[in-house]
Amino acid sequence: MAGTFPTVGFDVDETRLSTLRNGIDCSGEVAQDILVHSRLKLHSDPAALADSNVFIVAVPTPLTPGGKPDLGMLEDACTMIGKVMAPGATVVIESTVYPGTTEEVCGPALERASGLRCGVDFQIAYSPERLNPGDTRRDFASIVKLVAAQDRRTLDLVAAVYGSVVGAGVHRVDSIKVAEAAKLLENTQRDVNIALINEMAQICGLLGIRAADVLRAAGSKWNFLPFTPGLVGGHCVGIDPYYLADAAQRSGYHPRVILAARQVNEGMPAYVASRIVLAMAAQETRVRGARVGLLGITFKEGVPDIRNSKTVELAQALALYGIQAHIADPRADVYESRAAFGIELEDETDWGDLDVLVLAVPHAEFMARIYDQAEQSLRPQGLFVDLKAALDPALLPEDVFYMAL
Ligand SMILES: NC(=O)c1ccc[n+]([C@@H]2O[C@H](COP(=O)([O-])OP(=O)(O)OC[C@H]3O[C@@H](n4cnc5c(N)ncnc54)[C@H](O)[C@@H]3O)[C@@H](O)[C@H]2O)c1
Repeated sequence: MAGTFPTVGFDVDETRLSTLRNGIDCSGEVAQDILVHSRLKLHSDPAALADSNVFIVAVPTPLTPGGKPDLGMLEDACTMIGKVMAPGATVVIESTVYPGTTEEVCGPALERASGLRCGVDFQIAYSPERLNPGDTRRDFASIVKLVAAQDRRTLDLVAAVYGSVVGAGVHRVDSIKVAEAAKLLENTQRDVNIALINEMAQICGLLGIRAADVLRAAGSKWNFLPFTPGLVGGHCVGIDPYYLADAAQRSGYHPRVILAARQVNEGMPAYVASRIVLAMAAQETRVRGARVGLLGITFKEGVPDIRNSKTVELAQALALYGIQAHIADPRADVYESRAAFGIELEDETDWGDLDVLVLAVPHAEFMARIYDQAEQSLRPQGLFVDLKAALDPALLPEDVFYMAL
């Protein structure tokens, strides 16, 4: 955006700004040389936004501790923009929200703070963020941008702004609510599909077969969708279905499939812990006080994001059996892990004599030496748990027991 338009990047977090000024994007999305040579001006003072006529809002939209949409940061951002924007401004919301939020929450917050009238003195639009974290093949410019606005002229403006920087182009949607719902459906569809495979993995466990083998066989049909079992953490797929469910419930509909999928996926850390303990019992390994190493705390491979980490939940589930798991992750920030979860990340190359080694998140750093890691850190007859079926068990040391979902 900054290469095409004079652009101010605003954040309330001064630490995030100073790392960006030093060319470091902690999310790992933007390369150092691009940041260093960018014309983007970074500020934490709202006054720096006063000359802007288009405002794009992409603040987090998490859940409350009770699992309801938490729009606090979004409302704060709108209030702040409302105080600095001038008549004629356009405010585009990119955060993931339930249908109706842009027009029923953001618009009124902007009106209250500015004293201006939405749709008359300023306009609102919605264009969801669709980045796939850690996906280096699909960057901002190569993902089609959905755009919707409260009137045709604003839609033309927003489509032109994004169209000039998104090579993949824009997809115009006639209503803001439709664009909001489309974003939620994208991630909910993913969640439901993963839940089905997670349920299948649990059935396979009871049948004494491996889900990975079943998936390989079923995947030979042209229309089989390639989803795999695993832990669903992070700030998108594990969160957005609750936004959709909340909107449905407030409209008088009880979503069954969406919430059942959430229940299955939320139950996976406890299920994996029980499978590990059952496997240990079958090997007559002492469970209480066993030495277990977990590789990966981030919500998926290739990213540093530890929000809604399911490895942490797996460690908590193992703790119920008397196992204090060790956790290593070269991508995650040591201080952030300590502050968020009280977890001291370790260096996996220090591990030895483990009873169980779990590959929870197959970062490239782990995969580069995973067979050596298994050899070095597992005791003879130790158990290797391959949560994402990421490796070839035939290449593991011969005296290692292998378990995948
Ligand atoms: N990051 C992604 O890849 C991605 C993909 C799809 C959708 N989304 C959606 O985009 C939104 C942002 O998510 P994110 O993960 O990129 O967030 P993030 O945490 O990475 O970044 C958001 C930034 O907003 C800042 N912030 C918080 N409150 C603010 C305020 N009042 N004013 C200004 N800045 C404020 C934070 O300090 C933070 O630096 C969410 O709704 C998310 O669901 C993100």
